[in-house]
Amino acid sequence: MPTRLAVLISGNGSNLQAIIDAIRQRLLDAQIVVVVSNRKEAYGLQRAQKAGIPTLYHGLKAYRDAGKDRTAYDADLAALLQPYHPDWVVLAGWMHILSAAFLQHFPYRVINLHPALPGQFPGTDAIGRAFRAYQQGEIKKTGIMVHLVPDEGIDNGPILETKEVLIYPTDTLENVEQRMHRAEHEVLLGALYRLIEGDETVKA
Ligand code: GRF
Repeated sequence: MPTRLAVLISGNGSNLQAIIDAIRQRLLDAQIVVVVSNRKEAYGLQRAQKAGIPTLYHGLKAYRDAGKDRTAYDADLAALLQPYHPDWVVLAGWMHILSAAFLQHFPYRVINLHPALPGQFPGTDAIGRAFRAYQQGEIKKTGIMVHLVPDEGIDNGPILETKEVLIYPTDTLENVEQRMHRAEHEVLLGALYRLIEGDETVKA
């Protein structure tokens, strides 16, 4: 039986597309059972629809307007996913910190992709911050990590895969972003391949 993946996105979805293409090329013995976005206009939703994958929009605004908090949002998100019986929940450009109200339903079954090396640049705009730190001479390289999400920590958790990405003196931010996205697709597919093969060893 192919491994069942639920993929959560918020934007363009190039990492989602990398998973879709890898499954189509039979590089991953998996099935994306559902794609969820917290942004209605996310282009990734169109990528999923083109691939015939069920999609869901789950926005936070309705909860805020109703005076409900994030835990209610997260608990309902878990309830939305459960009928799809995912083996793994893949956060591929999902811009919302999940609380225990969600994570308790998928213990050690959630992985996140973050465009920085462990302990570096947690949170948003990690690629831009790394580029500026490089220009300040504070770092020589940046990188990518895929980690488990056992708790509400921001872009930290047991590491599954990492990859260093060099920055060159002549680089523009766009160069670095393109290089990082290429590396992300590779690292994410590598981590998924290992997990699908049953190897859940963590590196740190
Ligand atoms: C990626 O850089 C990911 O690491 C970050 O958000 C971006 C999403 O890219 N969290 P995409 O939507 O998969 O193209």
